[in-house]
Amino acid sequence: MFASLTVYALLALRICTVSAFPAYQSLAGLTRDQLDTVVPTLAYSPPQPLPGPLKDDSSILVYDAAHPYQPLRPGDQRGPCPALNTLASHGYLPRNGVATPVQIINAVQQGTFDFLTLPLIGFNLENSFARFLALSTFLVNGNPITNLMSIGGVTPLTGQNPPAPATVSGLNTHNNCEGDTSMTRADTYYGDNHSFNETRFQNFVRFSNEFGAGKYNYTVAAHLREFLVEESIANNPEFTLVSPRLFTAFGESVFPVNFFIDGRDKSGQLDLGVARSFFQNMTFPRNFYRRDGAVNNVGQDVVTNYYPFTPGYNANGVNSFVVDPTSATLSQPCLRYTNFVNNNIKLLYPNPTGLLLQSLKTNLQYLYEATVAAGDGCTQVFPYGQ
Ligand code: HEM
Ligand SMILES: *[C@@H]1O[C@H](CO)[C@@H](O)[C@H](O)[C@H]1NC(C)=O
Ligand SMILES: *[C@@H]1O[C@H](CO)[C@@H](O)[C@H](O)[C@H]1NC(C)=O
Ligand SMILES: *[C@@H]1O[C@H](CO)[C@@H](O)[C@H](O)[C@H]1NC(C)=O
Ligand SMILES: *[C@@H]1O[C@H](CO)[C@@H](O)[C@H](O)[C@H]1NC(C)=O
Repeated sequence: MFASLTVYALLALRICTVSAFPAYQSLAGLTRDQLDTVVPTLAYSPPQPLPGPLKDDSSILVYDAAHPYQPLRPGDQRGPCPALNTLASHGYLPRNGVATPVQIINAVQQGTFDFLTLPLIGFNLENSFARFLALSTFLVNGNPITNLMSIGGVTPLTGQNPPAPATVSGLNTHNNCEGDTSMTRADTYYGDNHSFNETRFQNFVRFSNEFGAGKYNYTVAAHLREFLVEESIANNPEFTLVSPRLFTAFGESVFPVNFFIDGRDKSGQLDLGVARSFFQNMTFPRNFYRRDGAVNNVGQDVVTNYYPFTPGYNANGVNSFVVDPTSATLSQPCLRYTNFVNNNIKLLYPNPTGLLLQSLKTNLQYLYEATVAAGDGCTQVFPYGQ
């Protein structure tokens, strides 16, 4: 631990200059001389207070003149989330795909103008849900020192990494929120776990034709979710679907209905061309209005009533599904929170010190506050003391 202790003690000086040291390497294992060269190049950016709920959550034109779609430039990051990809491609998030938690929360709901962020109008995702999603992904995949996270893969743009075992590898990282049984992204076992996959989208189309008369709705979501899980159990020897991924898998099944339908259309039936525009092209349909009123994962009960699922994994090749009794189930949000903090975060950051510790504590406090705002009634846990 000598290296990290030294680094984070020195970090407290908050010196920031420029040097040629590659910005994305871990500091673990560097000599004292090397550290003396590197440390002054680190910039600490503390966590910012998180935005609250929207004052105006009405339907608003999102695809406006100020937010044109622009194609990717080399190095721009896009990943498994069609919503964040789209927001970045329209400039509601930084177009390079590297953002702070506050920028992400503002983008998925709607920000009041703030000189630190961009003036933003997003999808009207409910505030406590947005906070939990942004903070839980940030704690695993983001850089607590620079306060930046990639919505795709590893990039030097998030700055110098804290020491391993921290990963800071962006939303593509498997098994936090990214995971198996996505609708339009393949399981990690098949290789590319985050790009749009036409074969999988064709299942989305087939189920919409079969159960939704050519549209995607909650009924289709239920049948497709069952199919995706059963198909992975039967074909993916490394299949796993446990908390925290479990929660995003079932939530995302209804997200297209809740957020991809134009705000002026109250039918609950998503057009497949519109779906493709988000999933594949990362583009708002022309003249798109966001939904009317903030919402979270409503409709998920339609999915779970039809397809109750107990978290588990293939223990021994395909078709060897076993239940994981240690995983939170969908009705145990507090166990999800507790295990996430005590296991996932503690594994990545076993002994943080200095500014790293300070940043983690603040972000964990924000995470807990999101569970309070969601009304979960969880008991707070303090892996690094109070
Ligand atoms: C705090 C903001 C958000 C974060 C950090 C986030 C993160 C993620 C991540 C990591 C995934 C990958 C999960 C997988 O493996 O399938 C994902 C998928 C997805 N997200 Fe988001 N997301 C956010 C907000 C939203 C919003 C507002 C929407 C809808 C407008 C949305 C729609 C989706 C959908 C539909 C998928 C599933 C993709 C698929 O199954 O093919 N997300 N998101
Ligand atoms: C798309 O997903 C399927 C599995 O669902 C996989 O077999 C195939 O290799 C994937 N295609 C690409 C290009 O990754
Ligand atoms: C996800 O996909 C990327 C690139 O396709 C790959 O580099 C990465 O290792 C994958 N993640 C895991 C955990 O397999
Ligand atoms: C989905 O569409 C089908 C076919 O139109 C319809 O029978 C079903 O009630 C719809 N489900 C919902 C939740 O809208
Ligand atoms: C996706 O983009 C391609 C290429 O720009 C375009 O031809 C196609 O119409 C777009 N599809 C949708 C559904 O937006």
